Amino acid sequence: MKSVSRQSSENSVGRMFDRIAPDYDKLNHILSFGMDFYWRAKLAGMADRKKQIKVLDLAAGTGDLLIALLRKNPNIIEAVGLDISDNMLAICRKKIASYNLAGRITTICSDVNSSGLPDNTFDIVAMGFGIRNTPDVLKTLSEIYRLLKQSGSALILEFSMPSNKVIKFFYLFYLRYWVPFIGRIISGDKEAYGYLNSSIEKFCNREEFSSLMREAGFQNVITFPLTFGIVCIYKGSKTNM
Ligand SMILES: C[S@@+](CC[C@H](N)C(=O)[O-])C[C@H]1O[C@@H](n2cnc3c(N)ncnc32)[C@H](O)[C@@H]1O
Repeated sequence: MKSVSRQSSENSVGRMFDRIAPDYDKLNHILSFGMDFYWRAKLAGMADRKKQIKVLDLAAGTGDLLIALLRKNPNIIEAVGLDISDNMLAICRKKIASYNLAGRITTICSDVNSSGLPDNTFDIVAMGFGIRNTPDVLKTLSEIYRLLKQSGSALILEFSMPSNKVIKFFYLFYLRYWVPFIGRIISGDKEAYGYLNSSIEKFCNREEFSSLMREAGFQNVITFPLTFGIVCIYKGSKTNM
């Protein structure tokens, strides 16, 4: 496995993920009741399986989305996992080695917007639960667009708000009170799991995010809400090819 470092976690979000990295996977599975596996598997199932492809996973974190993509799609000949947090990527590299997937993977420690990767390189650019953490969503979408081949597609998995008012009420209660409480008990980090809740609530809704994708240049933008709309997969093509 190749590993490149373009910077250490200089921004506050990167430092926060460095701190919570050892507990990240455990808390993810507990707080989502294991549904995070299903959400990533859904995204992995949307990759093109008819030809050999190159994939980039932005904000790859501890690597679960990258691993789901590689296991479901043996036609991925090359994959890059990029993240700003050294500690999250260190866990990612260990997991990749344990799945014997290292031969096809490069990890890059960098901000999404300074990857140094060339234009028109990837068939798929995926991003799971990462885009709402970036300071300028449109800039990140434009970067994804730049990195895709003309025939490529973006697959973005992100939290969203359920449309049903009753489900939204219970979901917000869970997000505002239980998530910070359980997060604090398990990780000891009060800030991180308060941030999780506020970043989800502040993030744009499905229509706004789809508009931003179109503004960045994406065609045929489609949304796939999952689990009552708690999360959504967004798919957009670089061109109409
Ligand atoms: C919620 S985790 C998601 C990790 C993984 N994709 C998953 O599905 O579990 C968000 C990740 O985004 C990374 N991140 C946040 N801001 C970033 C940035 N500007 N550039 C690169 N990575 C970033 C964090 O370090 C963290 O690993």
